[in-house]
Amino acid sequence: MQAPTRPLFKPSSVIPGFEKLIHEPIPSGTILLAGPPGSGKSTFTGQFLAEGLKRGEPCLAVVTDMPPAHLIRSLEERWLVEARLVRKLRILDCYSWRLGMPSQKQEYPVVGNLTALMVEIEKLRKEMKRGRLALDSLSTLALDSGLQAAREFFNSLRARILEGGMLSLVTLEQEVHTLAFERTLSYLAENVIKLKLIEEKGRIKRYIRVLSSRVAHSTSWFPYEVTDRGFLIRGGVIGV
Ligand SMILES: Nc1ncnc2c1ncn2[C@@H]1O[C@H](COP(=O)(O)OP(=O)(O)OP(=O)(O)O)[C@@H](O)[C@H]1O
Ligand SMILES: [Mg+2]
Repeated sequence: MQAPTRPLFKPSSVIPGFEKLIHEPIPSGTILLAGPPGSGKSTFTGQFLAEGLKRGEPCLAVVTDMPPAHLIRSLEERWLVEARLVRKLRILDCYSWRLGMPSQKQEYPVVGNLTALMVEIEKLRKEMKRGRLALDSLSTLALDSGLQAAREFFNSLRARILEGGMLSLVTLEQEVHTLAFERTLSYLAENVIKLKLIEEKGRIKRYIRVLSSRVAHSTSWFPYEVTDRGFLIRGGVIGV
């Protein structure tokens, strides 16, 4: 019997312009997005979810650094997703419990540890059957739960995403954790995207590249800007 084929995601459906970096359809799996503070990880995440919702894909967001209402507002106002589509977004709230907000008063499930989070993800994943998941950010979970627990969680999530035929985006703060932690996650993820900020002539320049991927990709650093409409990836440059 032939093994079932994994669903494929068009690179341009990840975020607009992503096809400059990855040149072939991306099989279900995980994209690890690593970058320093302010590089645009949350912007990328919002755009990734907006693209999924606009395409009618089931989408799940795990928020750690902002309340669900903030994400919903940015999907509607910044990413111009119709309210009826935004209402379909499933959200797991890993933000409110840290502020001590009573979970029964929150609209979305409030989750306070990695075991409970995996249980909730599994429930939703089985309902969704396909589509995309965004987790912004694994770093916050690692700071709360420790590196080992976060690494185990990531590896388990990665396997379940693959089994479920989904595409996940997981963000990671760079230079906050140990190098070994970053490298282990990069080794586990099917695709690793790096963002970096460089100061040039008194101005911050932003660059994005694929560090690794299981499909054909560019190895160049591409300059990009973060505008109110999101990532603007420009032509490729080599050797930055
Ligand atoms: N609506 C917006 N319009 C234009 N620029 C924005 C908007 N929101 C955020 N930015 C800018 O985009 C850049 C990236 O912000 P973003 O929050 O996506 O970064 P991040 O990598 O998630 O940061 P952190 O590590 O702090 O979570 C910042 O310079 C921020 O000021
Ligand atoms: Mg962020």
